[in-house]
Amino acid sequence: MRRLATLLALIGCLASCGDTPPGSSAAPDVMTVSLTGSPAAMVWQAQCAACHGATGEGNQALAAPALTQLSAQYLIRQLTHFVGGIRGSHPDDNAGKRMALSVANLSESDIAGLAALITTELPPAQPRATIKGDADRGKDYYVNICSACHGGNALGNDALGAPALAGVNDWYLQSSYQSYLNGIRGAHPDDVHGAQMARLAPALANRDDIDDVIAYIASKPPLRSP
Ligand code: HEC
Ligand code: HEC
Repeated sequence: MRRLATLLALIGCLASCGDTPPGSSAAPDVMTVSLTGSPAAMVWQAQCAACHGATGEGNQALAAPALTQLSAQYLIRQLTHFVGGIRGSHPDDNAGKRMALSVANLSESDIAGLAALITTELPPAQPRATIKGDADRGKDYYVNICSACHGGNALGNDALGAPALAGVNDWYLQSSYQSYLNGIRGAHPDDVHGAQMARLAPALANRDDIDDVIAYIASKPPLRSP
């Protein structure tokens, strides 16, 4: 129940806390950054856009996912982990290593500014489905295994450190699930949340089952609509 209450509070706040006029992307109580000229925008353009896309929509050819439907808290933790060698340091984690190398110079304030930029200034990505699976079968798995942490609508639960899965590219969900299964993500001793997901991952170890659950997740509307 507490988890549900947290999720509902989060959704309620998103719906009403901001009082943002339609069409405006400014959120009054969040640090506002402009895509032109702010320090975070400059870092984004110089260091992130080449892989994640100009507006953070993701680039499958480079294995770089869409970022704009993730929470600021999750983004800050992941970036801090990449910088600190807690994520992306496993010898077989090629995608993670490329990412870690690209952000090694970021400071804490760069990271906070980037998280604000990604969640409030960049337009919300609406990735299209690329993976075929049986979404009805996947729904059963999702409801029984994943929803307790990632939320009934796959919108995530910051109190548990579980990210939104809706609005994240399906090919990236598939490769990250596989990384947890193969022990290349969530294996670092300081990666508390990654370890939780890695322990859970063997619940679905069959590739078809994973594709089914991902097909279901890809059918769920993301938190932020265009
Ligand atoms: C060289 C290409 C490259 C550059 C440049 C790059 N990234 Fe990444 N990024 C990746 C790849 C590849 C992944 C996927 C890693 C994996 O599969 O574990 C990733 C993953 C991430 C994640 C984790 C997403 C998740 O859902 O867990 C975040 C957050 C992120 N990048 C933010 C950034 C930011 C912010 C910048 C700029 C400061 C940046 N990246 C620059 C390639 C890049
Ligand atoms: C016990 C709670 C829990 C359960 C149950 C759970 N997860 Fe997770 N999951 C997490 C946490 C916590 C993270 C963040 C881990 C990290 O920081 O690396 C995560 C991360 C993920 C990621 C990485 C997302 C990204 O943006 O990089 C994927 C994919 C994922 N989970 C899929 C699933 C699926 C599919 C299920 C059901 C089969 C599931 N999870 C069940 C807690 C859980």
